[in-house]
Amino acid sequence: MKFNIALLAGDGIGPEVIDQAVKVSDAVAKKFGHDITWKPALTGAAAIDAVGEPYPDSTHDVCVAADAVLFGAIGHPRYDNDPSAKVRPEQGLLKMRKKLGLFANVRPTFTFPSLLDKSPLKQERIEGTDLVFLRELTGGIYFGEKGRRDNGETAFDNCVYTRAEVQRLAKKGFELAMTRSKKLCCVDKANVLETSRLWRETVQAMEKDYPEVEVSYEFVDAVAMRLVQWPNSYDVLITENLFGDILTDEASVISGSMGLMPSASMGTDAALFEPIHGSYPQATGLNIANPMATVLSAAMMFETAFNLPEEGKAIRNAVNKALAEGIVTEDLADGGKAYGTKEVGDWLAANI
Ligand SMILES: NC(=O)c1ccc[n+]([C@@H]2O[C@H](COP(=O)([O-])OP(=O)(O)OC[C@H]3O[C@@H](n4cnc5c(N)ncnc54)[C@H](O)[C@@H]3O)[C@@H](O)[C@H]2O)c1
Repeated sequence: MKFNIALLAGDGIGPEVIDQAVKVSDAVAKKFGHDITWKPALTGAAAIDAVGEPYPDSTHDVCVAADAVLFGAIGHPRYDNDPSAKVRPEQGLLKMRKKLGLFANVRPTFTFPSLLDKSPLKQERIEGTDLVFLRELTGGIYFGEKGRRDNGETAFDNCVYTRAEVQRLAKKGFELAMTRSKKLCCVDKANVLETSRLWRETVQAMEKDYPEVEVSYEFVDAVAMRLVQWPNSYDVLITENLFGDILTDEASVISGSMGLMPSASMGTDAALFEPIHGSYPQATGLNIANPMATVLSAAMMFETAFNLPEEGKAIRNAVNKALAEGIVTEDLADGGKAYGTKEVGDWLAANI
């Protein structure tokens, strides 16, 4: 098969980890007889530097025309440390998600047998964890009206959701639950927030369409605790944008590192695959970032965007083998030998 893949490397460690995902994907294409054309495009601080905005129209055009988008990360300390900056890399991320209609971010959390003893959490608690967050990605507080009043002394960020936004995300959640253990948890804060009450009432109304799915409703603060206490009790979790952002970072502790967490963003006009981590500026150019989250995002791309599970499995097998054999970057080295980002990528590509 032939694929055009938009390649948005972004900032910080983005280009380094993306290079490894490209290498590994090319190895998969070679092994299975596919033909990938990569279409690089600018985003984030790199795009601001080049053309003055973080998600230019030219990049959008490349994404829309592609069969899938592979994305690294954006963000730069220059902007993080300047709250008054008018144009920011993160605006590009939000604009990209909105313009591509990427409303559902799929974030799987699972454990790797060879890393169980390295987790700060007790092995017997996390063993066998296999859960998926479906985070709403184009609504809520990140997209609501925001600003200052009272001469800058008061700040506000509005959180807004429509029933239709909740329904389309929840529908994906119910459908995903049907393919798994038929358990769905709706994470909200319905005891306090009106948007959460809309979430809960909307999901409750949809239950009758999926009689086989057992739905639970839990407050986000309780989930934050139970997630690290009994992660095995969850399967599919649906949640709004901000809660999902925070809980999935927390969930990375179960897997072992932020550098291991892939994601897929699905929507109306495109499918985008990206690690959940950011641009990890401290590691930029040092060849120390873990490329596995991005490589596993490429596995999700083969599996979900191209419906090629064997290709995805070849990548997952290589990652599992690397972890078992200790071919890891410093975040997972635990005092042992740490390999470079590029060396791990080379190893994975050679072991496809
Ligand atoms: N999707 C995105 O592009 C995205 C997401 C989150 C943050 N950001 C941006 O990234 C910048 C840095 O943010 P941050 O420090 O909060 O988050 P971050 O995810 O970049 O880094 C947080 C920590 O996670 C670990 N980590 C992250 N990626 C890793 C990898 N590949 N290998 C090993 N360890 C890794 C490191 O310990 C790091 O200090 C900011 O500008 C922020 O706005 C972008």
